[in-house]
Amino acid sequence: MPTMSSGDARIQNAVVDDSLAAFVELARTRRSIRRYTPKPVGAALLETLLEAANWAPSAHNRQPWRFCVVQSAAMKAALSTQMAEAWRSDLAGDGADPVEIDRRIAISQARLTGAPVLIVPCVTLEEMDVYPDPVRRQAEWTMAVQSVALACQNLLLAAHAAGLGACWMCAPLFAPALVRQVLDLPETWQPQAILTLGYPAEVKARTRAPITERVVWR
Ligand SMILES: Cc1cc2nc3c(=O)[nH]c(=O)nc-3n(C[C@H](O)[C@H](O)[C@H](O)COP(=O)(O)O)c2cc1C
Repeated sequence: MPTMSSGDARIQNAVVDDSLAAFVELARTRRSIRRYTPKPVGAALLETLLEAANWAPSAHNRQPWRFCVVQSAAMKAALSTQMAEAWRSDLAGDGADPVEIDRRIAISQARLTGAPVLIVPCVTLEEMDVYPDPVRRQAEWTMAVQSVALACQNLLLAAHAAGLGACWMCAPLFAPALVRQVLDLPETWQPQAILTLGYPAEVKARTRAPITERVVWR
C-alpha cells in the first residue's frame, strides 16, 4: 500500500489551509445585499444554489426544508402587495405615523419587486417525529426551523461564491398563511422568510463584535 511522504503531507496540509482560508474569507465577505441589477439569474445557477441548500445538515436527516422560487413579475407584485396590506394593518394597529407606514411599505415593496428572484424557504413537519407532549413537540419544531436556517445559510454562501447578492427578509413569518395562499403552497409548508437574490447593485460593509465577546471556553 502506498504511504504518504512528508512532502505529500505538506502539500495536503497546504491545500487544507488554503481551502479553509478561502471558506473563512467567503463567510467573512458575504453581506446582505438589498439592491440588484436587472440581470437575470440563470436557471442552472439557481439549481446549483438549491442543491447547496439541500446538502445542509438537518435533524434526523429529515430535510424539513421546502423552497418556492418566484421569478414572475406578477407573482412578486401579488406577494409584495398582499404582504404590504397585512403589514399596514399591523403598523396602523401599533399607532404608527401614516407617512412613516407608507415610507416603510414602499421600501419593502421596491425590494421585493426589484429583486430578480425571490426564494421562499418553508419548514414542514411532514417527516419530523411526532410526540404527545408539548416539550418534545416544541423541540422538534425548533430542530426543523434550525435545519431550514442552515439550508438557507448554505444557499446564501453559495450565492455569494457565485457573485450574487442576497438578503434574508423575515416578513413571511408575520403572515405565513397569506404567503402560502398567494403562492399556492401546500398547507403543510410554513413560510419562514423571503431570500431576495440577484446581481448586486450596491456594496455593503459590516462589522462584527470580536469573538472574544461572544465565546467562552471551558
Ligand atoms: C433571521 C434574520 C432575519 C432578517 N430579516 C431581515 C429583514 O426583514 N429585512 C432586512 O433588510 N434584513 C434582514 N436580515 C438581514 C440582517 O439585517 C443582516 O444579516 C445583518 O444586519 C448583518 O448584515 P450582513 O448580513 O450584511 O452581515 C435578517 C437576517 C436574519 C438572519
